[in-house]
Amino acid sequence: MKKLFTIVLLCLSALTVQAEDGHSLWLRYKGGNHATVCTNQKKPSPTLVIAQKELSKNWQGDEKIILVQGEGNGKESFTLQRTDEGIQASSATDKGLLYAAYTLLRMQETGEIDQLTTTSITETPSNDIRILNHWDNPNGTVERGYAGSSLWKWDEITPTLKAGKEVKWKNAELKQRITDYARANASIGINATVLNNVNAKPLMLSSDMIGKTASIADILRPYGIKVYLAVNFGSPHGIGDLDTADPLNPEVVKWWQKKVAEIYTLIPDFGGFLVKANSEGEPGPMDYNRTHVDGANMLADALHPHGGIVMWRSFVYASDGGDRANQAYTEFKRFDGQFRNNVIIQIKNGPIDFQPREPISPLFFGLEKTRTMPEFQITQEYTGHSIHTCFLAPMWKEFFGFQSMCSTPKAYGQKLLAGVANIGDDINWCGNDLAQANWYAFGRLAWNEELSSEQIAREFLAQTFTNDPKFVEPITELLLHSRETVVSYMMPLGLHHIFAGGHHYGPEPWCAPKGWREDWLPRYYHRADNEGIGFDRTHNGSKNTEQYPEPLRSLYDNINTCPENLLLWFHHASWNHLMSNGLTLWHNLCGKYEEGAQQAEKFVEVWKQVKPYIDSERYESMLWRLQRQARDAWWWHDACILYFQQFSQLPIPSCITPMQFKLDDLMKVKLPIDNYRAPKPDMLP
Ligand code: GCU
Repeated sequence: MKKLFTIVLLCLSALTVQAEDGHSLWLRYKGGNHATVCTNQKKPSPTLVIAQKELSKNWQGDEKIILVQGEGNGKESFTLQRTDEGIQASSATDKGLLYAAYTLLRMQETGEIDQLTTTSITETPSNDIRILNHWDNPNGTVERGYAGSSLWKWDEITPTLKAGKEVKWKNAELKQRITDYARANASIGINATVLNNVNAKPLMLSSDMIGKTASIADILRPYGIKVYLAVNFGSPHGIGDLDTADPLNPEVVKWWQKKVAEIYTLIPDFGGFLVKANSEGEPGPMDYNRTHVDGANMLADALHPHGGIVMWRSFVYASDGGDRANQAYTEFKRFDGQFRNNVIIQIKNGPIDFQPREPISPLFFGLEKTRTMPEFQITQEYTGHSIHTCFLAPMWKEFFGFQSMCSTPKAYGQKLLAGVANIGDDINWCGNDLAQANWYAFGRLAWNEELSSEQIAREFLAQTFTNDPKFVEPITELLLHSRETVVSYMMPLGLHHIFAGGHHYGPEPWCAPKGWREDWLPRYYHRADNEGIGFDRTHNGSKNTEQYPEPLRSLYDNINTCPENLLLWFHHASWNHLMSNGLTLWHNLCGKYEEGAQQAEKFVEVWKQVKPYIDSERYESMLWRLQRQARDAWWWHDACILYFQQFSQLPIPSCITPMQFKLDDLMKVKLPIDNYRAPKPDMLP
């Protein structure tokens, strides 16, 4: 009887969907037919061996696959084609073939493989360096990380002491996790990673940490990924025995040269440094009356003989420097053309700080003789941590759209794109299963900027969950609407930085603790008063619009042509300002909060309808998040409408859902800042 019961149970479970913890990401291959995978290489490199193994293990077709190395232009480009002999993938390099292998597997999983015919498909990456920026600290915390602790458990990594000498990892599980990380990145074309926080500890450059970095680099290398480090500009006196870090001091220059040589001895293909200098309290050349050029070029010269680069961040602002949106441009524009060719200025997509919507930073256009690279934020510091679903591909596509509106983009050597990672040691990597879509989208867009958000969403969902259109169709829609929804219930019409202080999770447009810098307070950004709301950045105001080339300059400067979704970014508009729908700004503002909250609530319903098509683990883990997101959306709705009403003194339009919260109560909410977790639901109103 017991046996029969077991059999019945087994049959039943075969009918239900497989249990999932999200660890496999978009790489949930069901196992293949042991396909024959040949190569023209007598001694295939470790990278080519990975490509071969992935295909022979996971390819479900029965045709032969031929990997041809040494053909084609461009290091990472590849060509795929069906021939009489089988499917042929060719590339100049083994890396190109690795990408070809993952592309074939993706096409298999999404059903696109039928499109592969005798007409060849060639792919060439849009960016040469597609780089993740981890904001991980050596103590295991992750700045703005919401998916657990750091992946790199530094205490448990065995350092490499001699180049090329493979170390035995004490912690085999950790080694496997880092291998899984490398594989996931390679599968979407990411080929570079900065292991540590831009707020870098000098300790990162100790010989012990360099040895450990080399051990990580050895795991990532066969997957085509180069390692970089963020460095603290004060390191020569932070861990060295110098009493200065003045970039023009010969002892300092020597210190860096020696340090760089030490790194390259252990990591011959080390990528270079990422530097946050003279920003938010970090040390930099200005501490010694030197400039960004002095600092960046000194490091660039130390790295140059080894082929390394410096990614020097433009994220600098001072409390007394005028409009914060102007400052990076003002600071860096005057140095245009003075940086070494292996210095790339890394610029956040917008001029302030990864807000739910920002215009493009004008610095991208201002630096005409200097190499620049965009920095996106994949981790959801300002878009609901790992609780809210906010698919960021549409935001990044919007950025590329802004970029192409002015005829600047100039080619200066290799092209780069950076994204601040949303990865931690949670079993599903990102905390939120749908937030994996942002890691995926970053890689795919860095590889091919032409891909549409929709295609990326579909690919992701089909591979990560199921190919069933009953799931893919509605959830693609959900993902595609999610970013605009978040903008609507948090900061519509160009509002920005009205988050709770410090942790940036909920609304706090009133936040003004004693002693805080004015440019860290929401009122600095929203500027609500009895007349109206918004930041006048026009020629009459902070003159930020003048930093843009035409046609953006005139477009943004004129309140009648400024896109309404950026209105309050560029203009202080009166509460009764008439908008394109014939209703007042106040009415529209309330309406946007309403729209956002209603939409967030719909997401819960959409999700409930796809329950039959996916595993219960991920279904449940997303359900509570979406429910919490909807509740948070109403929290934003009430907090912002009630707070701004104190200035507008206008009645709330009758079409708006009655307030569920009292402003006084909301103003008492204080969440603790946790450096590597999203807030716990019971802390929230
Ligand atoms: C934001 C973020 C910080 C981070 C900084 C940066 O301000 O809140 O945690 O260090 O950006 O990008 O350097």
